[in-house]
Amino acid sequence: MADPADRAAIVGAGHTRFGALREGPRELLRQAVDLAEATVDRGWGRDPPDAAFLATLGFGGWQLGNASALLAEEAHRVGCPVIRVENACASGGSALEAGVRAIESGRADRVLVAGLEKMTDLPSARRRYWLGVSGDTEWERLAGLTFAGVYALLASAHRSAFGTPPEALAEVAVKNHRNGLRNPNAHFRREITRDQVLAAPRVADPLGLYDCCPVSDGAAALLLVRSSEARRYTDTPVVVAGLGSASDYLAVQERPLRTGLAATRQAARQAFRHAPFDRDGLSFVEVHDCFTIAELLALEDLGLAPPGGAAEMTLAGATARTGALPVNPDGGLKSKGHPIGATGVSQVYEVFRQLRGDAGERQVPGAARALTHNVGGSGASAVVALFEAA
Ligand code: COA
Repeated sequence: MADPADRAAIVGAGHTRFGALREGPRELLRQAVDLAEATVDRGWGRDPPDAAFLATLGFGGWQLGNASALLAEEAHRVGCPVIRVENACASGGSALEAGVRAIESGRADRVLVAGLEKMTDLPSARRRYWLGVSGDTEWERLAGLTFAGVYALLASAHRSAFGTPPEALAEVAVKNHRNGLRNPNAHFRREITRDQVLAAPRVADPLGLYDCCPVSDGAAALLLVRSSEARRYTDTPVVVAGLGSASDYLAVQERPLRTGLAATRQAARQAFRHAPFDRDGLSFVEVHDCFTIAELLALEDLGLAPPGGAAEMTLAGATARTGALPVNPDGGLKSKGHPIGATGVSQVYEVFRQLRGDAGERQVPGAARALTHNVGGSGASAVVALFEAA
């Protein structure tokens, strides 16, 4: 990581509602950028950023071949250089990384990072096709394996190794739906019970309907500057204190590890290597819970629970909003929703709100340091970032 003064700091963040929305991609982007600019306390003005990065898979009916131009137009910044970042469900985390590196290298002083996906304009079967394109084609997709199917394989392997009870997976869904109830942007804002999760129709055994994140539309945006400049814009910047990213084999069958995600482990090691705090300094974490098992794997891979220990931690309530280590206080992908390109940016939006003490009903008391964890595909890429209130 860069010297503390050269680190990137977030001075503004915006977020649309997530869900099945009537708005198209242009309107979603415009809303997210306008909301981000509205959160900057002073001095952002109308000058274009030096660089912008747009995370999107280009899912569904819009396909969005040259989506970067949309961001420049809808942000009213035509002329600004924009690079599109596509890294499956980790696109948002990778766009953040690109933005942070642009600041740290001295190439840019003001950076816009946005994430977008419009997914619900297609019928179910076509959605499955678009979800599948981020997985392995030869051995998984064309053989009929869906993303839920891949994570079901990981859940079964975890259960064989550690005896992970179905109740622990169910509790992840119950807790994240409870958190989502307090998030006005969440796709689902309703409580569910453990019995409902366990009795729901199976999608890919052992995962049922409530073990899965939904298919959602939405966008989010961040404004970044150098830490040493951040107070020109706000008294409460949020500094990017560590960042790591890694990749793995695309197909699960090629991977030596089946009870965790090696890319997450490697990204976490990098992120913490030069960070000013360690895991015990975290106030809360935002992890990539695309399926309930993914939250348990994340806690173990990030070194926040011992191997096989995340189930007990979850069942004991430690990951609840008021527990020892709150996990996904915004409802996570499970309840807030998962518009693919927007997700990694949305996690950082939550960190920005929480670390400024501005998260309303879902505020984690005393939040000072946080981690985001964004996974692409079934673990073929991962980005881990650390943040602290400046
Ligand atoms: N959690 C809770 N409820 C859900 C849900 C979810 N994930 N997905 C859909 N529902 C609800 C809907 O609100 C709807 O309820 P209603 O009848 O009361 O209105 C009902 O289930 C049917 O919705 P529908 O959209 O027709 O469901 P579907 O069968 O087409 O899709 C899944 C359900 C689980 C297959 C779909 O949400 C899915 O594929 N999720 C995973 C997405 C994914 O893989 N993302 C990438 C991760 S790496």
